Amino acid sequence: MAEVVIVPDARAAGALVADAIARVIEVRPDTVLGLATGSTPLPVYEALRGRLAGTDLSLVRGFALDEYVGIDPAHPQSYRSVISREVVDPLGLDPARVHVPDGSPEGIEHAGADYEAAIEAAGGVDLQILGIGTDGHIGFNEPGSSFASVTRVKTLTEQTRRDNARFFASIDDVPMHCITQGLGTILRARHLVLLAFGEGKAAAVAAAVEGPLSASSPGSAIQLHPHATVVLDEAAATDLALADYYRYAYANKPAWQRL
Ligand code: PGA
Repeated sequence: MAEVVIVPDARAAGALVADAIARVIEVRPDTVLGLATGSTPLPVYEALRGRLAGTDLSLVRGFALDEYVGIDPAHPQSYRSVISREVVDPLGLDPARVHVPDGSPEGIEHAGADYEAAIEAAGGVDLQILGIGTDGHIGFNEPGSSFASVTRVKTLTEQTRRDNARFFASIDDVPMHCITQGLGTILRARHLVLLAFGEGKAAAVAAAVEGPLSASSPGSAIQLHPHATVVLDEAAATDLALADYYRYAYANKPAWQRL
């Protein structure tokens, strides 16, 4: 089972995860980070700015989880733009080392295989940051995604398009298709760190952490991973049956056993 850490708020979660990332980079300057978009990881990226100030990041590499298909890469809500704005530019990463799946319609049929090959050539992802959708998706692996899936085109659910409409002028502007790392791709990362905040995520979190393994609950794939950490605020932890145990285990965690 994943380690579940319940913290007071998103800011505390950001500091905790940023510290774990910084320690990985200190040991391995060419760390491969798995980068998530959406609102959830923003406190991590914010905290990284302070935590990594003065650290040489010139060798750090990154792979985003997903991208919309058919969106202009220069559109402010393309994940290429979001990753540049929230991660690459503020941290001063080398843009050539940070990859986002290619969502352009030309060549889309081999873009997934190309992305898988690039991740493999980099030696795999060391630490993968994840959010979770209200419908349980991780990456854009909507319910029904195979646990063995690799990077490919998916159709977004209406629920996801509604959730993401806040980033666009209207729901009609939210693309219908995406290209996303698969659940199988995500499971190959060496450490998964899933974050969730707010009561809107509580049901999806409980299904992912404590529910049965099921393609209907894509986040439950993390139960198959040997090193998965779930960092939640109190509201996102509301539906967890074993919340008291997670608090107890974390409070008594041996000092040498870091996140
Ligand atoms: P959010 O999205 O962080 O914007 O809530 C999470 C997700 O869709 O994975």
